[in-house]
Amino acid sequence: MCGIVGYIGQKKASPILINGLLKLEYRGYDSAGLSTLEDTTISNIKNKGRVNSLNEVPEINTLTGTIGIAHTRWATHGKPSTTNSHPHMDNSKTFSVVHNGIIENYNDLKIFLTENGYNFLSQTDTEVIPNLIHYYFSKDNVDDDKKFLRAVQSACKDFKGSYAIEVISSLYPDRIIVTRKDSPLVIGKGENENHISSDIPAILSYTKDFYLLEDNEYVEIYRDHLDFYNKDLAKINKPIKNIEWDATAAEKDGYEDYMLKEIYEQPKSIRETIGSRIKLDAPCCFDELNFTKDYLSSLNKICIVACGTAMHAGLATKTLIEQICNIPVEVEVASEFRYRNPIINEKTLAIYISQSGETADTIAALKLAKSKGCKTLAISNVIGSSITREADYTIYTHAGPEIAVASTKAYTAQVTLLAILGIYMAEVLGSVSPLILENLKKEIFDLPNKIQTVLNDVSGIKNFAKKVYNEKDMFFIGRGTDYAVSLEGSLKLKEISYIHSEGYASGELKHGPIALIEDNTTVVSVITNDDLVEKSISNVQEVATRGAKTFVITNQDIDKSRFDYVIEIPAISKLISPALSVIPLQLFSYYIAKEKGLDVDKPRNLAKSVTVE
Ligand code: M6R
Repeated sequence: MCGIVGYIGQKKASPILINGLLKLEYRGYDSAGLSTLEDTTISNIKNKGRVNSLNEVPEINTLTGTIGIAHTRWATHGKPSTTNSHPHMDNSKTFSVVHNGIIENYNDLKIFLTENGYNFLSQTDTEVIPNLIHYYFSKDNVDDDKKFLRAVQSACKDFKGSYAIEVISSLYPDRIIVTRKDSPLVIGKGENENHISSDIPAILSYTKDFYLLEDNEYVEIYRDHLDFYNKDLAKINKPIKNIEWDATAAEKDGYEDYMLKEIYEQPKSIRETIGSRIKLDAPCCFDELNFTKDYLSSLNKICIVACGTAMHAGLATKTLIEQICNIPVEVEVASEFRYRNPIINEKTLAIYISQSGETADTIAALKLAKSKGCKTLAISNVIGSSITREADYTIYTHAGPEIAVASTKAYTAQVTLLAILGIYMAEVLGSVSPLILENLKKEIFDLPNKIQTVLNDVSGIKNFAKKVYNEKDMFFIGRGTDYAVSLEGSLKLKEISYIHSEGYASGELKHGPIALIEDNTTVVSVITNDDLVEKSISNVQEVATRGAKTFVITNQDIDKSRFDYVIEIPAISKLISPALSVIPLQLFSYYIAKEKGLDVDKPRNLAKSVTVE
């Protein structure tokens, strides 16, 4: 996790760096810091707390340097503190480094460096980086212009783990050196200036021209040019990628929070994700995939692997894919999949979902499937992200930048794209009647309007949130695809409102968890699966009998007087209902968190992009 930015140009670096960090706070926000080159000395300013705490350090106003690196931290090694914040410098204060990732063998390196006379101030893994660079620099007798670069490369060769790093040196005040391995880093090219960042939106207001680095590539970044090198330090050419995202897409745009804005963007993000993939009178269009009938017929199963909300998107579409493609679908969390030696082979299609495209467990799980001969397909929201570079195929959701830590529009875009993918595969296979697929396509076309209908009147959800925001425990229950969405509703509530909640299959409650239901326990039930309505209602009655307060989200014709609170949503096929029924659940969590006065965009202990396992 953690976010890094860098600037080299004609302007004062510190405000640009702080501005960039503020946009990366979603990646971590327990401490922050920056280094600028002031003539030929490095000024290092750090503070515990959010990025804005840097403005409380008096020296920040004295900085005038036009080269700098900066960091916002999500602690992994060493508690949040000023000492543990980045940038870290070597003992001689010649090199300053910011780092995103984990140096797994830092302890061995620390012992080695200590034996060679180096001291350490922090408990971080990162502090070995500047010192190891210094070690190699001092051992290099060739005093040429590439000495700094060679020292960085030599140090990196010793690292095990993941890193995106930026290094500046008081001896080389004209450049920033960057490299990465398994952690994100992009470079934005400007006019006589260059920007560096962990993600594109943070620097989108300065440029739309980006270089996307591969693992183990090195770059010397100057004001007016960049030199790219491969792992052996041979010069390489790097194409520029023009990113079409609008900078304002990453701003709050009048909304109180990013999360609310992103919830309201869902009709648009789904329309963009549908794009021109669906046509009623023609097969779905996935030019990126060349799946033939022979290939799809040969599959023994499809594995969908992801983390958190992205995994829930897989669960939400498992039934659709199984029913219309007649292929078994397994959905699994990446952190388990990668370590359990799953039975997969060249007859398995492995699909990896990741909004950020940088989630460490998901990427590792993808690499595992590749090593076992599976074809791998990535679904991501971020162009050029790490996962898209590892996978055999990539299809993108077009949700636009998702900034709030709690994922909302990415989930509905993922569900939509997976549903379209399922229809595409069913069309290639000819596994179900064209009429069924045509109806599903119409449902997907209508989805944005139906979401808009829910968004047009949120008063009922807000009112219920006001009644229950002080509670300690809640349950989310459902059957079929309603169960999948219940898990997502429960996750949203936990992460932003800090209320303990459980997502459960309605039929499973009586096998244990019903013991937890007491007077006034809130049970949120989703009832949209038309073939399971009566059974779902019975389950709600079972908890109501035991004193539960019942909050039902439904599009079925049911007797509302049997429940304490009902929110009606438009009718929709159960196969894609999770993309609609999730909207009231997102809003429910949002309004509860607001009632509690919490920071919904940056909930405690979390980070947007989980680049450590
Ligand atoms: O970027 P990814 O989709 O790979 O992220 C996966 C999870 O970390 C993410 O969905 C997480 O669960 C969200 N905070 C949920 O709102």
